[in-house]
Amino acid sequence: MPVPRNKTEDDITAEVLQRFAETPDPRLRQIMLGLVKHLHAFVKEVELTEPEWFQAIEILTEAGRMCSDKRQEFILFSDTLGVSMVVDLLSHRKPDGATESTVFGPFHRLGAPELPAGGNIAHLDKTGTPTLVGGRVLDLDGKPIAGALLDVWQAQSSGLYDSQDAGLDGLHMRGKFRTDAEGRFLVRTVRPVNYPIPSDGPVGRMLRATGRHPWRPAHIHFVVSADGYEPVTTHIFDRTDEYLGSDAVFAVKDSLVCDFVRHDGTTSEAARLDIAPPFLTADFDFHLKPATGQRATVLDAQQRLAALGAAG
Ligand SMILES: [Fe+2]
Repeated sequence: MPVPRNKTEDDITAEVLQRFAETPDPRLRQIMLGLVKHLHAFVKEVELTEPEWFQAIEILTEAGRMCSDKRQEFILFSDTLGVSMVVDLLSHRKPDGATESTVFGPFHRLGAPELPAGGNIAHLDKTGTPTLVGGRVLDLDGKPIAGALLDVWQAQSSGLYDSQDAGLDGLHMRGKFRTDAEGRFLVRTVRPVNYPIPSDGPVGRMLRATGRHPWRPAHIHFVVSADGYEPVTTHIFDRTDEYLGSDAVFAVKDSLVCDFVRHDGTTSEAARLDIAPPFLTADFDFHLKPATGQRATVLDAQQRLAALGAAG
């Protein structure tokens, strides 16, 4: 049948949908049809102009160029558009007592050292307040999980991650910790601070142009995993932070907010670790649910992303 020469925009949408309708994989077919349907509807709704279309191509090109093994502008776009949190909520509906997840973010790096309990991830940070974050990793019945792995990362007290700090070469504020027989872990760090997400690229320009602030409330990142359990990618947040209600990436969940308690006198644990007051402690227990089949973890994906970035 000859293709009609005078197409309307709706004819084009219908023809594109038809062209994808025979996609053999049913999930890919669903995704491609949904993508075309909504993308075309969006373009028609805002009546996208040619200059705006070119601008969008430039923005995506620039975002791609900024990506490396240290920087992920596309994750930042996804985070600031709220897409990451919608995907997170769809993927992890947890009315079951398991620790809630939140965004992975763009700052994880592979290769963090494995440290003993109480090991200091902030050994180069001379300005932050010493902080001990401790707790247990438990199953849904409250039984301790021994040998669970906590992959921890955090911004320095300057508000910069190691990868953003021109004065640093190598990893800092990162570590891997294992739970003991009672499921306990202990991380020595400095008090987390709020920080603006990187604004020297297209995401920053989007935030400025739309009157949004780039700040994230103070937090520490964790991926907690153990054999036989579903890993959780999450943060803990400081309850006193002024940006808890307006996180630039929409990642705050009430169950992840915790108290960082100030101590002006020493404790046996602080003395043992040679920490002079004042210092802070935060207690947080992670609850993992049993694994349901083989699932690709966020760290597998990170491995692939980092390899892509390093190749660029
Ligand atoms: Fe962060």
